Amino acid sequence: VLDGLRHLEYRGYDSAGLAVLDRAGELQVRREVGKLANLSRLVDEAPVEGQIAIGHTRWATHGPPTQFNAHPHVSGGGLLAVVQNGIVENYHALRERLIGEGYVFTSDTDTEVIAHLVHLYYQNGSHGDLVDATRRALGDLRGPSAVVVVCRDHPDKLVAARLGNAGGVAVGYGEGEMLIASDIPALAPHTRRIAYLDDRQMAVLTANGADYFTLDGEPLVKDASRLEWDADAVDRGEFHHFMQKEIFEQGRSLTDTLRGRLDFVGGQVRLDSLNLSAEQVRTLEKITIVACGTSYFAGLVGKFLVERLARLPVEVDYASEFRYRQPIVNPQQLVLAITQSGETVDTLAALEEARRRGARTAAIVNATGSQAARVCDGIIAMQAGPEIGVASTKAFTASVVDLCLFALYMAQARGAVDETARRELLDALVRLPGQVGELLAEARQGDHYARLAARFGEFSNFLYLGRGIHYPIALEGALKLKEISYIHAEGYPAGEMKHGPIALIDGQTPTLVIAPRDSIYEKMVSQVEQVRARGGAVLAVAHAEDAQMRQLADAILPIPVTHELLTPVLSVIPLQILAYEVALHRGADVDQPRNLAKSVTVE
Ligand code: G6P
Repeated sequence: VLDGLRHLEYRGYDSAGLAVLDRAGELQVRREVGKLANLSRLVDEAPVEGQIAIGHTRWATHGPPTQFNAHPHVSGGGLLAVVQNGIVENYHALRERLIGEGYVFTSDTDTEVIAHLVHLYYQNGSHGDLVDATRRALGDLRGPSAVVVVCRDHPDKLVAARLGNAGGVAVGYGEGEMLIASDIPALAPHTRRIAYLDDRQMAVLTANGADYFTLDGEPLVKDASRLEWDADAVDRGEFHHFMQKEIFEQGRSLTDTLRGRLDFVGGQVRLDSLNLSAEQVRTLEKITIVACGTSYFAGLVGKFLVERLARLPVEVDYASEFRYRQPIVNPQQLVLAITQSGETVDTLAALEEARRRGARTAAIVNATGSQAARVCDGIIAMQAGPEIGVASTKAFTASVVDLCLFALYMAQARGAVDETARRELLDALVRLPGQVGELLAEARQGDHYARLAARFGEFSNFLYLGRGIHYPIALEGALKLKEISYIHAEGYPAGEMKHGPIALIDGQTPTLVIAPRDSIYEKMVSQVEQVRARGGAVLAVAHAEDAQMRQLADAILPIPVTHELLTPVLSVIPLQILAYEVALHRGADVDQPRNLAKSVTVE
């Protein structure tokens, strides 16, 4: 269990705990604040042995990260223990009710309510039937929850259930053992056979298998699917951090992204799993992209690609905004989610809202066993491989390339792009993974980025500027720096600089510009001049052989030349490396940045 939690560390947490049914049949609980190493130490000091156990890393929502608030939560004087992902929205009312029943609360959490509720039903109504008691308890909860229950009276069983979008629940089939986890990296070292719980489903695990039911008690038949990851995909290998590994993997991940999707003879793009015929494409009037975080910025690049190539209007919305603003959606619209994890709660809710209002839904998604992949009418599977680093890197570039394929697919159905233009882009796409590989090889050889980090890593504020298709890259570059080095960085459309951010520029605020030689290059040059005139340092992402920019800027982050529409895939990579090196320089915890979680499964 500790090892499984270690593989889930990247998801972000502030305390951890486990409960083991020991050889004497007693539930032993160990909980500790802070990193898993602290819990490990506790377990070393007070070891415990058993055949069945649950564990959890908690990201505080109700109550501060203390030992008492860490999961598992116990009820009935050590009769049963519960771990939960999610939020009990009606927790106050339930807590009052349970206090009325005589329960004494020992934590501030909403999870403890679930432990006592299961216990209440176990004693009254369910007559010692743990599965029934869990089902009844979940029936009282509002809000998304994924729970696992272990009970002293049932030493051969784990009961798990999923209610709403509380993150994944994956059941792993081992050799003479069964496992359950909220994400694949915890299971991958043990098994390749995995089944997933959907909303309102539960699983009852014994050492030899699992039975599945709906939360209404109907039996379900579920087939395990085969995990396609490499065994080493969840290891850091020769790298110091997962983020570093994932940055340097991007040549490979983009090769995988393109594989099987380009038909050179016909010059066509194939996206079979999108489940959208050319005829259906022609009925579409608009595309709405919904996403969060880095995936949202990929969506902003997607707007450029789809509008330019397919001449179809695209709106991009934060999923957390879309879901609550009574969006105007109709059946002539495709709502396209972008999500690495496929479990981000706001993105799932936005998809639900879109479906409710009659739109077709699709997702560009990396985790193909995830909820987003299952609920949409069609998907484009990212093929980035597992992404563990909290700050997303290879999923961003894979999303952008997928969006380009999507735009080409739309364009070919609508007859919107002429043959020559399409060929040019396809040729550039094919060369792209190689160019990414070269850029990365060069970055890895020297110490250019480490030196930049030493020179600029002590500043407290950065401005990132980009225009057109590079504007989302300015936003994404600034986000990377913020997330892992805790430097305040603001991304802005360069043309807007005069309307505000220029007031910030002085010797203490370096500006990073994205300035490849394209149709708006000259405008970026004059922007750089304006920053320099006010004493600000300039770092420029520019073509390696751009002598003018080399002279003008204080430092260059070089990229190769590609098709203008694909430049974002190259220009974001130096920004990922820069953020990584600055975080190292400042001694920050790159793979587990403070307060952040890899997939945000609570609102
Ligand atoms: C979190 C992660 C980001 C990610 C975002 C959206 O904030 O830290 O890296 O971009 O969630 O996640 P998704 O899995 O939906 O792409």
